[in-house]
Amino acid sequence: MKLALLLYPHQNIRYRASLLQIALEETKLVFSALGVETEIDSKKLGGSQFLFCLPVRPLSRWEMGFLWHLSSVYMIFEMNENALVPLDDQRPDYIGEDLPYLLKYKGKTNEMFTDSMLTMALAASDFSHNYDAQLTVLDPLAGKGTTLLLALRRGYHGIGIEVSKSCVEELAGYMNRYFEFHKMKYKYQKSSLTVYGKNGGIQHKWLFSDSADHFRDGDTRSMRMICGDTRNTASFIKTGSVHLLVTDLPYGVQMGTAGKTDGILDTVSSAVPGWYSVLKKGGCLCMSFNTHTVHRDVLAGRLAECGFSVVDTGTLAHWVEQAIERDLIIARKD
Ligand SMILES: C[S@@+](CC[C@H](N)C(=O)[O-])C[C@H]1O[C@@H](n2cnc3c(N)ncnc32)[C@H](O)[C@@H]1O
Repeated sequence: MKLALLLYPHQNIRYRASLLQIALEETKLVFSALGVETEIDSKKLGGSQFLFCLPVRPLSRWEMGFLWHLSSVYMIFEMNENALVPLDDQRPDYIGEDLPYLLKYKGKTNEMFTDSMLTMALAASDFSHNYDAQLTVLDPLAGKGTTLLLALRRGYHGIGIEVSKSCVEELAGYMNRYFEFHKMKYKYQKSSLTVYGKNGGIQHKWLFSDSADHFRDGDTRSMRMICGDTRNTASFIKTGSVHLLVTDLPYGVQMGTAGKTDGILDTVSSAVPGWYSVLKKGGCLCMSFNTHTVHRDVLAGRLAECGFSVVDTGTLAHWVEQAIERDLIIARKD
């Protein structure tokens, strides 16, 4: 079985090379999670970028379903002699695929990149064999929720923590408008949260479903967006309840930590013990950061001090814009 994975083109040529490198690492992690050895080769065909994979054995339909979680893959073909035969699209689509894309704003993390982080965290975790189950994803620095909306699209549950009230309110308004516009059945609740006996945040919570029948039968997904400080994660979320933690540290360019452009590492250092405690054993964290503001070794050190095991990957550092060179780090709770 020879598979040809056609990648989405990206308008920015310089960023395209970075995406290819990330796509390669993501694909390696997914095959490794499936326990299937494969050669992976990147080549252009007819001017389009492909990854060619030669797994040692054919993949089942369920295994192919996991390959469809590769964020940069546009189409998958089986190579038959020299012909490319398109395979069924098994991309996860619990909720409208436009949900993560419609809200546009300065400082939004690229959706395809965020989706890669989600797949890499999943592939490096013990839950890769439950990729189609109801996993819970936490973004503890959620902005306006890119990670969470991508998680909902996969049929997962999402929890976000964000200190900026305006980000949280804008996301809440967007979610309610989206559900109303698509005439989806949902329940929405806004409540105050208590942290160590004091008022420590506001929670917006939605319950919704992919169909009215499922909603009636209680087969729902949930999304919680908490307006609060990520350093209080352990008081907001039940211990050991999160499968995957995916987040994007403030770049120190437009968005600082709790309003400042310095102290990112201090915030992360105080927050990581809480992040660790809410993750399940075998769960995984994938975090991106600007190498101009945070050093990989220091970050890896802080994660290790709190009990995480940093996962070895090829280089994932890539250029984003003049002030941002982004890298990402994957770490497991063993
Ligand atoms: C890089 S942005 C995340 C962007 C997000 N991925 C998106 O696409 O919308 C980092 C976020 O961390 C938030 N933040 C910074 N310090 C925080 C803290 N102590 N607690 C909670 N959120 C914080 C910032 O307000 C900012 O929205």
